[in-house]
Amino acid sequence: MSFNKILHFESLGSTNDHAKGLAADYPHGTVVQADIQTTGRGRGENSWDSGPGGLYLSVILKPELQPQATLPITLVTALALARTLEEFDVKTGIKWPNDILVDGKKLAGILTEGASSGERLDYVVVGTGINLSNPLPDNLPAVSLEGVTGKKPDPQLFRDRYLHHLHLLYQQFVKDGFKELGAEWTARSGASGKGLVDRRTGKTIGKFVGLAEDGAILFWPPERDPNCSELERSYETELDFV
Ligand code: BTN
Repeated sequence: MSFNKILHFESLGSTNDHAKGLAADYPHGTVVQADIQTTGRGRGENSWDSGPGGLYLSVILKPELQPQATLPITLVTALALARTLEEFDVKTGIKWPNDILVDGKKLAGILTEGASSGERLDYVVVGTGINLSNPLPDNLPAVSLEGVTGKKPDPQLFRDRYLHHLHLLYQQFVKDGFKELGAEWTARSGASGKGLVDRRTGKTIGKFVGLAEDGAILFWPPERDPNCSELERSYETELDFV
């Protein structure tokens, strides 16, 4: 089923919160969209500025997968955004784990939230905020699609192309796993061979090698035992590639 059941609102607090409230009763693939959000949320304690002209939507997914699948779903969503933005003539960078950047400035962000019973996900809500033509806050390094291209994008066209890519990529992920998609993520992020730095401490924890089947970062630690051929893994979200 493609993601074409769209519940469109003029205003919501947060499309993620609304979608989570609906998730038990609405089918896989339901989309919640709002023209503005009054309490849009980003990762952690961050808010998401959600004025008119941006695209704010959340997709309810019901994967028959384990709770750990929320990480690769975030990464797959970043690929869907990057592929869509390419169709709108913008080559983007991907920043671990949930940011879409142009010249280091944020154009879109992803907030993935799941609920599980034991070893099974009940649902995942994958929310995306995309700066299309909305006014941007002065205090953040952010950019809009209109600001980058000089052209006003058609929000409905953007939404439909994004949902198309997300649907295709999600199906590929569920059918074939994350390996090939992880390679695309690595190529698009430009992270290969870069140092991995903990944002909170500034400390280098190793050198990025690639992504594992479950979306974990694979890296060589800085002082690796030359006899050890095992890569280390990290699920830490507060990492920069430098
Ligand atoms: C981030 O970069 O920290 C994630 C931002 C995610 C924002 C989107 S907008 C639609 C959905 N609803 C929310 O409240 N947040 C996400």
